[in-house]
Amino acid sequence: MTETKELVKRLADKHGRSRESLIPILQGVVQEERFISSETMTEIARELDISAATVYGTATFYSFLDTQPRGKYVIRVCKTISCSMKGKHLIMQELEDLLKIKVGETTPNKKFSLLETNCLGWCHKGPAMLVNDEAYTELTPEKVREIINEYMNK
Ligand code: FES
Repeated sequence: MTETKELVKRLADKHGRSRESLIPILQGVVQEERFISSETMTEIARELDISAATVYGTATFYSFLDTQPRGKYVIRVCKTISCSMKGKHLIMQELEDLLKIKVGETTPNKKFSLLETNCLGWCHKGPAMLVNDEAYTELTPEKVREIINEYMNK
């Protein structure tokens, strides 16, 4: 059995093979592989006996379900209104300068990807960002430098 088949089978055993299992399975794939390849989508469709178009449509609809290879640390900066008004652009600028990439890109060493996301639910403490599952709030350019330095040394 290929690695992809094994992974999909394991996740389907855990979450079930109904239509409702699709999102938990996709999330499981992202957790383990950081993105959902088209091979994996096809395999999920086969395992759940649904169309590949359904899997693809679901995976691409939710921005947290990555369908592209990403770095080890995926940074998602909130782009929604509260954070925007609290200086999100300064945070993004600092991240782009530090990582030497633009939003949407991954560093050549595959360590960081820089993305934007919709509201993370920390509006009262914006600007906010996620690094993988970890939330960082009330960001300033200085705070961002400290956080990224820590990840660079990991
Ligand atoms: Fe940024 Fe809600 S607007 S966390």
